[in-house]
Order: sequence, then C-alpha cells, then structure tokens
Amino acid sequence: MFFKKKRKIDYDLDMTNIPKHIAFIMDGNGRWAKKRKMPRTYGHHEGTKTIRTLALEANRLGVKAMTVYAFSTENFKRDASEVEYIFKLPKEFFNLYLKELMDNDVQIRYIGHLEMAPIETQKIIKDAIAQTAQNHGLILTFAFIYGGRDEIIEATKDICEQYKNGHITLEDITEDYFERHLMTKDLPPVDLMVRSSGECRLSNFLLWQLAYAEFVFDETLWPDFDEERLHHAIAIYQGRERRFGGVLK
Ligand code: FPP
Repeated sequence: MFFKKKRKIDYDLDMTNIPKHIAFIMDGNGRWAKKRKMPRTYGHHEGTKTIRTLALEANRLGVKAMTVYAFSTENFKRDASEVEYIFKLPKEFFNLYLKELMDNDVQIRYIGHLEMAPIETQKIIKDAIAQTAQNHGLILTFAFIYGGRDEIIEATKDICEQYKNGHITLEDITEDYFERHLMTKDLPPVDLMVRSSGECRLSNFLLWQLAYAEFVFDETLWPDFDEERLHHAIAIYQGRERRFGGVLK
C-alpha cells in the first residue's frame, strides 16, 4: 500500500512573533488544473481545500486573522461559467467545513460587495457568519467581490458625507479616522501578505492595509500551498526587520 509522503515542517518558528493578520492572494488554481488537463474550475475546487488547511493551521499557531482574496471586482471579466462556479463554492466549502471550523472556534466574515452575488451565495455566507459570530479563534475573512480602490472610494464618500453634514471638520480626517471607514475596520493591521503561484502583484487587494505589511511571493500554485509553505512564509516574515519607516537600531 502507498502512503502520500507527508512533508516535514522543519522551520523553527518563534512563537512570540507570529503575525497577527495574514492576507493571501490565492493564485494559480487555473494553472494547477491545466497541468492536470482538467478544467480551471477543478483548480478552484481544490483551492478551497487549501483555505481549510491554512485556516486550521493558522488558528493553531495563534494567528488572529486570515483574509483570503476569493473574488475581485475585476474577476467578473472571466467567463460567465467560471464566475458562476466560484459563486457556488461557498456552499460547498461551508457544507464540508463549517462544523470543523466551528469546533475550532473560527469566526467567518467577509469584505466586499456580497450584495452583487446570487441570493443563495449571500445566504450561505451570512449564515456562516451568524453561526460563528460568538467564536473567539481565528477570524477568517473572505474578500468576495472586493476591490481595494473601490473600498478606498467608498470610505472617501462616507467621510465626505460626514463633512458635508457638518459632523466632522477637515482636521478630524486622520489616518486612524480613515481606517475606521474601511471594510477591515475591526481587523488587526495586516502583518504579512502571501501570494501564491509566483506572480508578484497586488491585483487591487487591500491597497491601504498593505502599506506596511511584509510581502512573500511563493512559487507554489494555490491548491498545493500547505502548512509547510505557511510555516515557510512565517519564517521569512520572522527573518525580516520591520521598521515602519524608522531606522535600523
Ligand atoms: C486565482 O487563480 C483564484 C481565484 C480568482 C479564485 C479563488 C477562489 C477560491 C480558491 C475559492 C473561493 C472559495 C470560497 C469559499 C469563497 P486563477 O484562476 O487566477 O489561476 P491562474 O492564474 O493559474 O489562472
């Protein structure tokens, strides 16, 4: 009988310096499927398993928040059949894993324009959020129909309304105030952003929030991204000196 050899995780992580918030650009599902002569949708299907694996491991390591880029405002440019398939994935994902995520105290949230998704998709995601609202473990946020520029424009419009109505003065508009108008207002700052598949772009993801995050670009295609790659990314993060614009001590 053959057993799949489990890769050894041998990074000596500093448990006192685990990033509080890790954001993932889940890239490479299509290429992963193509290599196997399968349709792109099969790659997305397999990619959802990676979300579960990483959420459980991040939670175990004590990461507070994990945000995954599941669908961008630009992804509507894809074939209608692929878009339709991605919109069905939350149902499959939560049917398979919600109980396990509950058992591990994981909270589900989303950022983005969920109202643009089919009603059934909206309902599935909102149900998962409601069921996990009292949990205190990892906050797993799905960026779903999300765009960073759009988020900044929405926040700006909110703030302009406040100003127009005389509720605030120009001096009130600080970075802190602006941040409180972003969709991520209840999440800790992003410490680490990981993009799989070797592409080195932000693709309109968390543009404000990534200002001081550390970036790790990993060659692994998303369905193959596993606990070992997560540990590797955290090890790289721990090897970096974060200065937030200051100087080396
Ligand atoms: C990028 O790979 C991936 C996406 C645009 C979709 C990712 C979505 C999921 C993994 C599932 C979402 C799940 C839930 C539960 C909402 P790509 O298609 O751009 O890959 P390629 O660059 O190789 O073509």
